[in-house]
Amino acid sequence: MKILAIDQGTTSTRALLHGDDGVLRPVMQRAHLQIRPAPGHVEHDPEEILGHIAAAIDSSGADLVGIANQGESCLAWDAQDGRAISPVIVWQDDRTAGITDALRRAGAGPEVQERAGLPLDPYFSASKLGWIMAHVPRAAELHRMGRLRLGTTDAFFRDRLTGRHETDIATASRTSLMDLSQGCWDETLCEIFGVPVNALPRITENAGDLGRIGDGPILAASIVDQQAALYGHGCRSPGMAKLTLGTGAFVQCLTGELLRPARPGPLPTVAWQLPGEAVSHALDGAVYAAAAAVDWARSLGLFAEYDQIARFAGEAAIDRGLVFLPALSGLACPHWDRRARGAWIGLGLEHGPADMMQAVLEGIALRVAEAVQAMAELQPIAGLSVDGGMARNDYLLGFLAGLLGQPVRRAAEVESTALGLVHMAMAGQGMSPPQPVAADPIPSPPHDAERAARRMAQFGQVREALSALARSRPDES
Ligand code: G3P
Repeated sequence: MKILAIDQGTTSTRALLHGDDGVLRPVMQRAHLQIRPAPGHVEHDPEEILGHIAAAIDSSGADLVGIANQGESCLAWDAQDGRAISPVIVWQDDRTAGITDALRRAGAGPEVQERAGLPLDPYFSASKLGWIMAHVPRAAELHRMGRLRLGTTDAFFRDRLTGRHETDIATASRTSLMDLSQGCWDETLCEIFGVPVNALPRITENAGDLGRIGDGPILAASIVDQQAALYGHGCRSPGMAKLTLGTGAFVQCLTGELLRPARPGPLPTVAWQLPGEAVSHALDGAVYAAAAAVDWARSLGLFAEYDQIARFAGEAAIDRGLVFLPALSGLACPHWDRRARGAWIGLGLEHGPADMMQAVLEGIALRVAEAVQAMAELQPIAGLSVDGGMARNDYLLGFLAGLLGQPVRRAAEVESTALGLVHMAMAGQGMSPPQPVAADPIPSPPHDAERAARRMAQFGQVREALSALARSRPDES
């Protein structure tokens, strides 16, 4: 049985084929255009990405296909011909910050938090779909004709590939339009954000028979990428957690039941639902900029090759008073402050690019530690399994392990999202997926709790100061 796993991410679409020998082999990787029409706006061309997905499926000879989608990114299309009528508005896009600020001022925060489990933030699809309704005249026109379709990217791909206008429950839980307890669209939330509920896709389980792709393979798994990675790390019981160091850093931890934090912090989210099983829940902690910060620093000329930033001699930058806050597109979990911006604090004439890069990596680790610690207050965490491109960086992982004081393991299979898709597709067909191999913990010096607490406190002071600075800027909304 050949299973094709398609990891449709923020910057590229990657396909890996899992054969009868149990080996996962990369078969395709295609980058797509990052369109930035205005500051803070990030768009993708849906047809370009769909073309990459279709090319991967056509050339694979697979029996089953699993697709992982970027969470929250969404668009509108015409039911009649399936053609997109808007670009994909990407999860990073903050054009709707004014909308979520206005809703917060109008007092909608608690109601949204209660129903969707999510804070008011442009990250989630709801305000982006509302923006499309208000700014793309064709959307209102199609709505009047009963032909409008709205959804996250997976729903668009699934509609075009299988002819079924469907999304999955895990992706739907990231829209801020789903009633988190019931797993169905919430009419009040749709009204708050100005999204017509009848244009939204049907919500399905994450695996099973999700439709046939043309006269080819069965779509056997469909899920948002972070949850696919959680499954791929072999996390199956409460407290098991993963960290994906991609464009952003995404921590997730399984919980026994749906946890409802009293205030915005780590987000309750659906992990997955497999055929015949109850919904599994997780906590989610996103940090907007991880590789995005490192790549940005590289574009500034702070380093050229990644092995230049894999180790640093001497003391940590933060212990020398140099701190970087990677709030390049605001602060997500647990602060939810979209207006905060990044900075190096503590620069002196003695500092050069290597010091600045050391501080960048430490800043990412410190932000991840903030998310993990906030999560651990709600659900005790039993170690962290890490994947993603930046997981190759020994300094980042070692520094993080020093902050957390619990085992940090680099996943044996770095393609955790693809592995999760394969295993989920197997589970949905009644097969038993193998348990992923556990890797050894990252070597780190004995945990020094006092030093870790000092670093976290120092970082917290810098973050607070920069957030206050952002708050003192005039409101552009
Ligand atoms: O929430 C956004 C996330 O799903 C994007 O993941 O791996 O495409 O950067 P990635």
